[in-house]
Amino acid sequence: MRLSCAVNGQRRQADAVWEGESLLYVLRERFGLYGSKNACEQGECGSCSVYLDGMLVCSCLVLAGQAEGRDVVTIEGLSDSGSPHPVQQAFIEAGAVQCGFCTPGLVIAALDLLRRERRPTEEQISEALAGNLCRCTGYAKIIDAVRLASERLT
Ligand code: FES
Ligand code: FES
Repeated sequence: MRLSCAVNGQRRQADAVWEGESLLYVLRERFGLYGSKNACEQGECGSCSVYLDGMLVCSCLVLAGQAEGRDVVTIEGLSDSGSPHPVQQAFIEAGAVQCGFCTPGLVIAALDLLRRERRPTEEQISEALAGNLCRCTGYAKIIDAVRLASERLT
């Protein structure tokens, strides 16, 4: 089938998409957007998180066909200025990035939280990021980063 959708504000099209193909596969392997990471492919790690029509989703759990005619925003689309988005900058400054594999998904999940709750408590941050696994940081720096981003965005 043919898939046509908007990705980061640009109309994109892919041909010969298999019916079982995930949105994550299309983003990475067909559109060359490698920011969304492929780890578990089971909705367990959050490393593939993207926005689909403004809703946070695990792109590994979304069939490519479900994105037909819809708007997808990936980590590559968060900032169009060439500079990191304030949430990305906060992650860098707080030391919340080690190997970086989990970072794109965490940044998107953190941004989603901050759009709903500008001054989240530590509990709200932990709850919002519960679906995002990080093997390196121990999470304390990630929580610091979200707090820092919260201060910057208000
Ligand atoms: S790769 Fe999608 S949740 Fe892990
Ligand atoms: S920084 Fe390595 S998995 Fe999170």
